Amino acid sequence: MLKGKRILLVISGGIAAYKALELIRRLRERGASVRCAMTKSAEQFVTPLSVASLSGEKVATDLFSLTDEAEMGHIELSRDADLLVVAPATANILARMASGLADDMATTLLLATDKPILVAPAMNVRMWVHPATQRNIGILKQDGVAFVGPNDGEMACGEFGPGRMAEPLEIVAAIEEQFGRPQPKHLTLVQPAAGSRTASVAPLQQDLKGRRIIVTSGPTHEPIDPVRYIANRSSGKQGHAIAAALAARGAEVTLVTGPVNLPDPSGVTTVHVEAARDMFSACFLRLPVDAVVCAAAVADWRVAVEAPQKLKKSGDEPPSLRLAENPDILRAIATTDAKRRPALVVGFAAETEHVVAYAQKKLVAKGCDWIVANHVGEGSGTFGGDENTVHLVRRDGVEDWPRMSKADVAARLAERIAGFFSAGGKTGARVKSAGKKA
Ligand code: CTP
Repeated sequence: MLKGKRILLVISGGIAAYKALELIRRLRERGASVRCAMTKSAEQFVTPLSVASLSGEKVATDLFSLTDEAEMGHIELSRDADLLVVAPATANILARMASGLADDMATTLLLATDKPILVAPAMNVRMWVHPATQRNIGILKQDGVAFVGPNDGEMACGEFGPGRMAEPLEIVAAIEEQFGRPQPKHLTLVQPAAGSRTASVAPLQQDLKGRRIIVTSGPTHEPIDPVRYIANRSSGKQGHAIAAALAARGAEVTLVTGPVNLPDPSGVTTVHVEAARDMFSACFLRLPVDAVVCAAAVADWRVAVEAPQKLKKSGDEPPSLRLAENPDILRAIATTDAKRRPALVVGFAAETEHVVAYAQKKLVAKGCDWIVANHVGEGSGTFGGDENTVHLVRRDGVEDWPRMSKADVAARLAERIAGFFSAGGKTGARVKSAGKKA
């Protein structure tokens, strides 16, 4: 979708500027050409030389450079692009854009353009929630500027809340979304990711302090031979958000994750694994803990015998793969001996129909305490998306949650887990697993 597209990337000065380098790489590997402009303060964080090397193009920094203007004037530069992206966009550049200032190369390009603009804000949480910033954002939105992020999370300054720049792949997705839109002139807004507008700035209660919790996340990769594997489309966004939300309430979290394109959440011990069996051992090694949340999309099967060398085309029949069942991590933890069994074992269920009824069956079959059941039907956008519609299925009832961001689902689940422990940490009668053996 990005093949042949021309993107003008404006990098302003924030700690997230280093992520712009990754963004350039991701855009170019998708076939887009990227020209960059940097503000003076951006140069404090990344050098024009790195940006030029990655983009393969000269970087525009100086409005009054005679050579640059002779080669390609700033008006031409801003009009030559199909889309302008500002990443990271600091509070300062947003204010200058909202006021229509053109006092350096970056803002001049942004004012001179007749092309759509997408911005990825990045700033301290208090700067983000400040009425002046919110006012500027309102103005820019009215002007048709699209936004991606910011995300919730811990920031370089040590505070927690909305303000972290969206990840490079999230920005790529938002850029693709812009190109997919029917009307390129006045852009419809991209929803800020991960509940940025609803998140509270007040420090969260540390009501999970002292609790040890394991969270599984992402897909697993089941090797066929040293270069091939079987995988699924799980992004890990929900599991990672849960790990971060639990850590934000003070829990000591170990995130056991399959291969994902997400950064390790800060304040969380992250263990990277590939296959289901590695995930299984990484979890069991760490028992006993207080709670386990199994959000990973573990592959149900692996290849029975992994080829030690790369399988070669022999010219005869293609090889056939014999599959073997993987251990069910959730079920094994939920039904392990009382000494190691966590007080709370939470599983996930992905269903396309009869969501609650199937989840209730799964709860019994796996012997777990709660199931977070989500809709993954066609058009739900759950896989890889930023939102989720879930039901929290417990032994004693079901909570239907409205559609919300994955960060909000994570925050609400962390709140319920904290509530569970502050109420004494009892799940009631254990139901023996009726399912298959692990
Ligand atoms: N799970 C696990 N280990 C496995 C398989 C699944 O820990 N080998 C966990 C997942 O992390 C999730 C729950 O079990 O919490 C999902 O159960 P599963 O039976 O895999 O669900 P679906 O694939 O949705 O089930 P079904 O095949 O019944 O549709």
